[in-house]
Amino acid sequence: MSMKQTIYGLYSSLQSIFIKNVSVDRNRLPRHIAIIMDGNGRWAKSKGLPRKEGHKAGAETLRTIASYCSEIGIEALTVYAFSTENWSRPKEEVDALMELLQEYLDRADEFLIGKDNRIRVLGAPDGLSQKLLQSIRALEEKTKHNTGMTLNIALNYGGREELTQAARRIAADCVAGKLPPEKINSDVMEQYLYTASLPELDLMIRPSGELRLSNFLLWQCAYSEFWFSNINWPDFTPKHLQLALHDYQKRNRRFGGV
Ligand code: FPP
Repeated sequence: MSMKQTIYGLYSSLQSIFIKNVSVDRNRLPRHIAIIMDGNGRWAKSKGLPRKEGHKAGAETLRTIASYCSEIGIEALTVYAFSTENWSRPKEEVDALMELLQEYLDRADEFLIGKDNRIRVLGAPDGLSQKLLQSIRALEEKTKHNTGMTLNIALNYGGREELTQAARRIAADCVAGKLPPEKINSDVMEQYLYTASLPELDLMIRPSGELRLSNFLLWQCAYSEFWFSNINWPDFTPKHLQLALHDYQKRNRRFGGV
């Protein structure tokens, strides 16, 4: 292990130990949180491990954070698991990510569904295996009447693609005479997005030090609050989420007003 790797390891352990305890008002929680689960590769590199080990650790972190969100009463959690651009990664890494997703869905009963949560997958089905698609459909069907948190896994998701497919379907409905063009407004647009019927996105979290959206929820984040942290996703704990919630509750959201 290199000096840099050792220093990062020490830094992230110390950060987790000394992270301050903050108060979170359970009556003013965001209804909908999105997370860009970034930094898996760097986490693995810092430990001298292959990148897929970072994704494996990231999937474990998602189990912990999703359970925590469900326990405290978050209505919707949307996580970026695989973007439309991630197909350009080496085949070995793409295969490892698909395997992890399959395993995550297969084991969802253990840590999510038993708690009355719902699972939805947001994104285009193109390129996904039949097995994965079947598992997705089965889980969505099985959990659709659950009333707890909705965990949305963005898989083969791209914000521009989401808006493009919405435009295509709106145009088709206009041509078919089902939708008069003058009736198109932002409420109608939302019905054509993958996130239709989900609460407004309140908080967008991106760990790992990157300060960009990477084509995630471009429409939905119009009035969301952003929270960034240097911690890599596999090291992200409920304490980091509490910090994000604490900061969120201090913000003055004006939605364009004064
Ligand atoms: C970004 O980190 C992360 C991804 C592209 C994949 C996220 C996937 C998981 C957390 C696990 C699988 C998901 C589920 C739902 C089981 P990166 O690889 O770009 O990290 P780097 O920027 O440090 O290289």
